[in-house]
Amino acid sequence: MPHLAYVNGRYLPHRHAQVSIDDRASQFADAVYEVTCIANGRPVDHAGHLTRITRSLKELRISGAPSAAVLTVICRELVRRNRITRGIIYIQISRGIAPRAHGFPAASVKPSVIVTARAVAPPSETVAEQGAKVITAEDIRWGRCDIKSTSLLPNVLARQAAVEAKAFETLLYTPEGMVTEASASNAWMVDKDGTILTHPLGHEILGGVTRAAVIKLAKDAGIPVKERAFTLQEALAAREVFLTGTTTFVMPIVQVDDRVIANGAPGTVARTLRARYLAYIAHVTETDAAWNV
Ligand code: PDD
Repeated sequence: MPHLAYVNGRYLPHRHAQVSIDDRASQFADAVYEVTCIANGRPVDHAGHLTRITRSLKELRISGAPSAAVLTVICRELVRRNRITRGIIYIQISRGIAPRAHGFPAASVKPSVIVTARAVAPPSETVAEQGAKVITAEDIRWGRCDIKSTSLLPNVLARQAAVEAKAFETLLYTPEGMVTEASASNAWMVDKDGTILTHPLGHEILGGVTRAAVIKLAKDAGIPVKERAFTLQEALAAREVFLTGTTTFVMPIVQVDDRVIANGAPGTVARTLRARYLAYIAHVTETDAAWNV
C-alpha cells in the first residue's frame, strides 16, 4: 500500500500529492502549521496542537478551515492507513489558491489543507544521556513568533548554522542579549537557586505545547518555575540549560558555543523532567480525549 498524504479533501499517494503553484503558502508563506508527535500510534497533546492552530488561523484571519473534529478525523485516517506507531503528523493550512497579489484573496477562496503522517525515530537517547551542544545566533525573526506560521526562513538559517557547526540547535538572542528560544524548540535554564526559567509567553516566542506540559510536570515534581526572560550571560553561568519541543522532548544542553555549562554533564532537573516527560507521553497517548471524538 502506498504511503498516503491528505491534500484538499483527498487521500493520495505521497509522491502524487501536490499543491498549486498559486498556493499562497509557496508565494507568501501565508500559512500556519503544526507538528505533533505520534507515540504508540497515538498523538501526544493532540488537543494542545488543535488549540494552537485554531489560534494561529484566527490571528492571521484565515477563515473557512476544517474544524478541529474534521482535522482529527484526517489525522487519525493517515496514522491508521500509514500504520504509523512512532512518528509525526504535519498539518499545514494556507490562505488558499489565488492569482498572486499581496492582499487577501476573495472570501470565497478556501484555505488549502495538507496533512502528512510519517514514521520518525524519537530524539536520540544517546545524545540526551550525554547532553547536547548548541550554538547561538541573533534572533532576526518577525515580531509575531507566537503565530506558528510557515515563514520559517530565519529558523531554517539558524538551524543550518547548527548543522554546519555539528551542534544540536541554535539558541536565539535579542539585540539586548535576552534568550528567546531556539530554531525549533523552547529554551530553559536552571539558576543557582534551582529555579527553572523560561521566556514568558508573548509575541517573541512560540507557546510550545511541550513547554506547557513541562511547566506542569516541573510543578508536579515540586521544582519552582518562573516564566521570565533570561540573558545569554545568565545561561552561560547556569546550573543547567535544556530545550523542549515536539521533536526534542526534553534535551539537556551541556555546551553553548565554546562554553561548557556547569560540569559538562546533563543536570538533575533536565534528567528528571525528561524521565517525567517520557512517562507523560506513554500515559497521555492512552487518554487524549480530543483524539477519541
Ligand atoms: N517546532 N519554538 C519554535 C520556534 C518551534 O518551531 C517549536 C516547534 C517549538 C516547540 O513547540 P512544541 O513544543 O509545540 O513543538 C518552539 C516544530 C517541532 C517544527 O517546526 O518542526
